[in-house]
Amino acid sequence: QDNNKKGHSVNPAASEDGISKGLANYGDRGFSLFLRKAFIKGAGYTDSALERPVIGITNTGSSYNPCHGNAPQLIEAVKRGIMLAGGLPMDFPTISIHESFSQPTSMFLRNLMSMDTEELLRAQPMDAVVLIGGCDKTVPAQLMGAASAGLPAVQLITGSMLTGSYRSERVGACTDCRRYWGKFRAEEIGAEEIAEVNSQLVASVGTCSVMGTASTMACIAEALGMTVPGGASPPAVTADRIRVAEQSGTIAVEIARKRLTIDKVLTEKAFENAMRVLLAIGGSTNAIVHLTAIAGRMGFEMDLKALDRMGRETPVLLDLKPSGQHYMEDFHHAGGMATLLRELKPLLHLDALTVTGRTLGEEIEAAGPGFKQDVVRTAKNPIYPQGGIAVLQGNLAPGGAIIKQSAAHPKLMEHEGRAVVFENLEDMANRIDTPDLDVTADDILVLKHIGPKGATMPEAGYMPIPKKLAIAGVKDIVRISDGRMSGTAFGTIVLHVTPESAIGGPLAYVQSGDRIRLSVEKRELSLLVSDEELARRRAAKPVVVPTASRGYRKLFLQSVTQADQGVDFDFLMPPMTTKIPKT
Ligand code: FES
Ligand code: MG
Repeated sequence: QDNNKKGHSVNPAASEDGISKGLANYGDRGFSLFLRKAFIKGAGYTDSALERPVIGITNTGSSYNPCHGNAPQLIEAVKRGIMLAGGLPMDFPTISIHESFSQPTSMFLRNLMSMDTEELLRAQPMDAVVLIGGCDKTVPAQLMGAASAGLPAVQLITGSMLTGSYRSERVGACTDCRRYWGKFRAEEIGAEEIAEVNSQLVASVGTCSVMGTASTMACIAEALGMTVPGGASPPAVTADRIRVAEQSGTIAVEIARKRLTIDKVLTEKAFENAMRVLLAIGGSTNAIVHLTAIAGRMGFEMDLKALDRMGRETPVLLDLKPSGQHYMEDFHHAGGMATLLRELKPLLHLDALTVTGRTLGEEIEAAGPGFKQDVVRTAKNPIYPQGGIAVLQGNLAPGGAIIKQSAAHPKLMEHEGRAVVFENLEDMANRIDTPDLDVTADDILVLKHIGPKGATMPEAGYMPIPKKLAIAGVKDIVRISDGRMSGTAFGTIVLHVTPESAIGGPLAYVQSGDRIRLSVEKRELSLLVSDEELARRRAAKPVVVPTASRGYRKLFLQSVTQADQGVDFDFLMPPMTTKIPKT
């Protein structure tokens, strides 16, 4: 057992790194290491290879996930980076989640992916990990899991898809998917055209090309300091993206050697920077839930009111759909996050550490001076004067609700109207397009039971405009629900009403004909019904909280928290120690 000559060590006392990491089984550490090495050598490794820092790589490639369609090339480049820096790459599969291939919702699976990621980082010996994620839920799941596992970690984004072209008009998923579908529903275009555009909306592998949740989480990951500089914006199929992958591998070896664990990067300051960026990019509302969940894993509790205050002094600078005009590849050509961060500098904690071992401020300096471009506005000439997202409060949402004001209709943001209520998704599907639906453009559509427990929180908050209004040319109407909406969607849409209707939040007791007041200016969401009347309705029809008899769904319904806590599972969250943002 004392043969620890370099290249032939099976002495577990020799090192707690690399392949010897975490040897606890069999009660005989020497034998455990001996076995472990014997098995891995079955794949042809030499002792010399096995004595290097081991860098895990999460392989989230899947035929069901075209947003990760470049995973094989990325893994190859990450491995190159790791080996050039003297490490040993070990890729392994985890769950992969695509928005369109995840029933009942991708949100249902996010926490499962975070648990899968966390436990595989714990179970398998590695000194650092490169997390390859891109599609909406994957990056949050990976950051949640890695935050809990506590290893040194680098996030590698798969990158956005290229834009396509339909009859010379530039198109990209999925703001244009919605725009064309709206035209089809309004009978402005026919079956042939909608079928033709379907082939052009997703022009390559990679994530949605607008500022949806995937792009938002990419920017947030870079703002958190979790990617290499410039890691957010290169499209999936570009040489720049492959170079980012190689650099991510190299950095992973460095942070393994320096033991730069994730808690040194995911600090309060990093989260505040991420919130600034979320507000300034007109980012997806989903990102609030995800950021809350990631922060929660570090014991930081998101203060939505403080976030709203931050929003009042953080203008939207990024001119990307759905709040603006451009696509992710244009953002990349305009310098990507360096251009945005340079403009946001006065609002950022420049001393926050990144995975490079340098601070965010140092990385902004290293990116060099800005240049003329038209995608990132200056603070003096913003695309929207306040942050993209506002937090609403009132008797309809005692725990808060949010609205993406930068993608809402200015006229509807101060609005009082009559509620047209749908009890659940099925009720809405059955009635929304019927010619006798009693609805006008001044009404407020209310959809219940699409919260975390009600329906595992689908992106159904973007309710369609009732067909008869759509044909009459109505493009927007106030909509309120306890669900989410896609980051690629637009409209005057109130989301994440907390507490949700399925657990008896006030939303459960709204009836058609009630009056509701929305004032984004005052941050108000009020149901104009007396407390006595609400109490009467509550007593007359108490809610039955959904449960399940077995499996992951049972775990989900037992443990899932509300939107203001990140929709994480209660048992995955440590005690909260600090409120953020402090600002
Ligand atoms: Fe994967 Fe949009 S569906 S990023
Ligand atoms: Mg989405």
